[in-house]
Amino acid sequence: MAKPRVFVSRRIFDEALAELSRHCRVESNQRDIRLTTPQLTRKLAGTDALICLLSDPVPDAVFARHPQLRIVSNVAVGFNNIDVPAATRRGVMVTNTPGVLDDTTSDFVWCLILAASRGLVDADRFFRTGRWRGWGLLDFLGHDVCGKTLGLCGFGRIGRGVARRARGFDMRVIYTDTVRAAEAVERDLGATYVDKATLLREADVVSLHVPLTGETRHYIAAADLARMKRTAILVNAARGPVVDERALVSALKRGRIAAAGLDVYEREPKPAPGLTRLPNVVVAPHMASASVETRRKMADMAVANCLAGLRGDRPPNLLNPEVLARLSR
Ligand code: GLV
Repeated sequence: MAKPRVFVSRRIFDEALAELSRHCRVESNQRDIRLTTPQLTRKLAGTDALICLLSDPVPDAVFARHPQLRIVSNVAVGFNNIDVPAATRRGVMVTNTPGVLDDTTSDFVWCLILAASRGLVDADRFFRTGRWRGWGLLDFLGHDVCGKTLGLCGFGRIGRGVARRARGFDMRVIYTDTVRAAEAVERDLGATYVDKATLLREADVVSLHVPLTGETRHYIAAADLARMKRTAILVNAARGPVVDERALVSALKRGRIAAAGLDVYEREPKPAPGLTRLPNVVVAPHMASASVETRRKMADMAVANCLAGLRGDRPPNLLNPEVLARLSR
């Protein structure tokens, strides 16, 4: 039987590609330059599967054009780049890579919290440009994190990972979510459930961990920033559109909040006008899961999902099992 055909939209680790090639005819975008949607659509001619990244939009038009496509395997836990309802309607399986990146992402959230509260990146820039004249009592003043209140918006795997790490900083942890966590989880993590307004009013660090949905777009807008403490910092390693980025630029410029640490942006890869000129923001290029160990696991998982789907087995991380139910009828 002919091997199934797979297109890999960007470079992935050689070992993952080799495993895929053992079972499939593989074409991959080794130039690693993001393809436009029309380019991606053309590349899918005659392919059974697509392995793609968050930076590849996969709209309904792609599924409409390629009825032979059986599975789209995203190398990410988030999947807002893929029109999953459209895939489901057209009988295409969609998979993601949950679980393996929670610790790495939680660690990175702490990089942002600490770097933003202490102004580390701006100080690094200052030092490198040869402007430092020696120790001064009033130089580079940031805000303490230890002993303060950490407010988590969203209390899933990553929110909880961030809470667990907060114990080392003797922080009070409050959280808000659409559903309250079990009492044992709250007790274990020393976290107290509050509503969003209380969280914004009381937290010294507000860290976002909500998925991007219709309801969470601009979850933090101008009015929410106005409710935060003037000394507070905002951290977003969830999804860019969860924050009204223009409102954030304005709040940071006016000193309405003290600082921000960002890993994600409303219109990636472009930041909102003025954002990167602000000294009180730490900007990372969507890299929270970028450790060698984790990215390898993500690539391996995406390949395993893809191969399972092509074999006719249920992929371990299938997002739309309705497709299988329909196939087995
Ligand atoms: C990263 O943002 C991911 O969703 O994996």
